[in-house]
Amino acid sequence: MNLILLGAPGAGKGTQSKLICERHQIPQISTGDILRAARKNKTELGQLAEKYMVEGKLVPDEVVIGIVKERLTQDDCQKGFILDGFPRTTAQADALTAMLQDLNREIQSVVNIEVPKDSLVKRLAGRRVCSQCGATFHVEFSPTQSEGICDKCGGEVIQRKDDHESTILERLSVYEQQTQPLIDYYKNKNLLQTIEGTGEVSQVQDRIEQALNH
Ligand code: AP5
Ligand code: MG
Repeated sequence: MNLILLGAPGAGKGTQSKLICERHQIPQISTGDILRAARKNKTELGQLAEKYMVEGKLVPDEVVIGIVKERLTQDDCQKGFILDGFPRTTAQADALTAMLQDLNREIQSVVNIEVPKDSLVKRLAGRRVCSQCGATFHVEFSPTQSEGICDKCGGEVIQRKDDHESTILERLSVYEQQTQPLIDYYKNKNLLQTIEGTGEVSQVQDRIEQALNH
């Protein structure tokens, strides 16, 4: 199964990708996670991406397209993959179509997770992530058992630099301008299924599974 999860920042793409990944045994490819890891390791890519990410802007298309192109040829993607946070522009979507054609593969489903804007802001402002294993929490909706300590690995739990209010609003505006057009893009290709992203994480998971079995 080759799948794209579409949705605004905070829609739950990362949360749901991890669950699909466990259930279907296919890897999650999150361009955001790849870029954050590069920043943490202070690689050339990380240094390039830093200023865009901290400001809530998109990293240039050619950079992320290069990352995904390389990732999709790795062995663990043979059985399928979940794209989380890519594509985010029409140019990226066109590049994805072309690279999959070269690999003789195609996208089977694009699931668009819809969440109202006020909930997105609340989710992002309260999100906390483990600096070691990347596990995601929320101060209100899924708090850690001990404050500041990851339930899964004991690592330090921090706030993402781009989860501060002004950057959150910028990211939502970038989403509306540059990524939302992909909803029509994939609708026109008859691949899009939109699901309601509010409610419990498990309810959203069930809706996605239903969409995938359709
Ligand atoms: P990226 O890491 O992709 O961030 P994003 O799209 O802004 O999305 P988020 O990770 O913020 O949200 P999510 O949908 O994964 O939500 P989550 O599951 O965590 O990108 C970051 C940056 O990298 C970009 O700004 C850009 O600079 C760069 N970048 C990345 N990809 C790029 C690309 N293709 N092109 C160019 N630049 C790129 O959930 C959010 C919170 O809500 C969590 O706290 C979670 O616990 C909570 N939550 C989840 N589900 C529920 C629920 N059902 N009920 C209550 N709370 C919930
Ligand atoms: Mg994410």
